[in-house]
Amino acid sequence: MHLNKDVEGIRKPNYEIDSIFVNRWSARAMSGEEMSNDELMPLFEAARWAPSASNAQEWRFVFAKRNTSNWKKFFGLLADGNKVWAKNASVLVVVVSRKTMEYKEKPAPTHSFDTGAAWMSLALEGTKRNYVIHAMAGFDYEKAGKVIGLSEKYAVEAMVAIGKKGKKENLPEALLEKEKPSIRKELEEIAFEGKMNKN
Ligand SMILES: Cc1cc2nc3c(=O)[nH]c(=O)nc-3n(C[C@H](O)[C@H](O)[C@H](O)COP(=O)(O)O)c2cc1C
Repeated sequence: MHLNKDVEGIRKPNYEIDSIFVNRWSARAMSGEEMSNDELMPLFEAARWAPSASNAQEWRFVFAKRNTSNWKKFFGLLADGNKVWAKNASVLVVVVSRKTMEYKEKPAPTHSFDTGAAWMSLALEGTKRNYVIHAMAGFDYEKAGKVIGLSEKYAVEAMVAIGKKGKKENLPEALLEKEKPSIRKELEEIAFEGKMNKN
């Protein structure tokens, strides 16, 4: 395992796994630089190959790049606590899922599950490319649907800030303290043979 310096010593996996899973974390320090399509599109390409029930591919990514008129609309959706740091992102994404199959509009009960897999693929590819990838639920979901012109067939799942790494010293003090990888529950708390424990 080749853990990055920022996670080493904090995150301690019990088993030998690919380092990408441990190296990914939701940093907030970004540089405020723009991102080209050549830099951005590979992240959606990674998401594209996620698995989904009946290969329905319910995920959609609606994005706004900084220094564009779309950016202002997307940025305005964020909760104040997220605006503080997401202002330095290169791209803001509204992650959307299609609630029904395109074939006969049958319900797609795993639309969120499948879209979750796709977002994680995006996050891991972004981590590999040394970008900050940070999901957010702190935004106005209803307004987001209006801003991107969403139809009834779709659900807003989350937003994601994508950016180039920046100096953490530039974060406000309260966020500076939080600018480190988080730890996890023990394996015994999440994986069970046969039966769940009571908690
Ligand atoms: C769906 C989702 C919504 C989140 N919403 C926010 C948010 O609004 N603001 C924020 O700062 N972090 C947000 N996060 C980041 C989580 O707090 C973070 O993923 C979690 O603490 C685990 O840390 P790690 O991603 O650094 O491993 C969100 C993450 C996910 C997956």
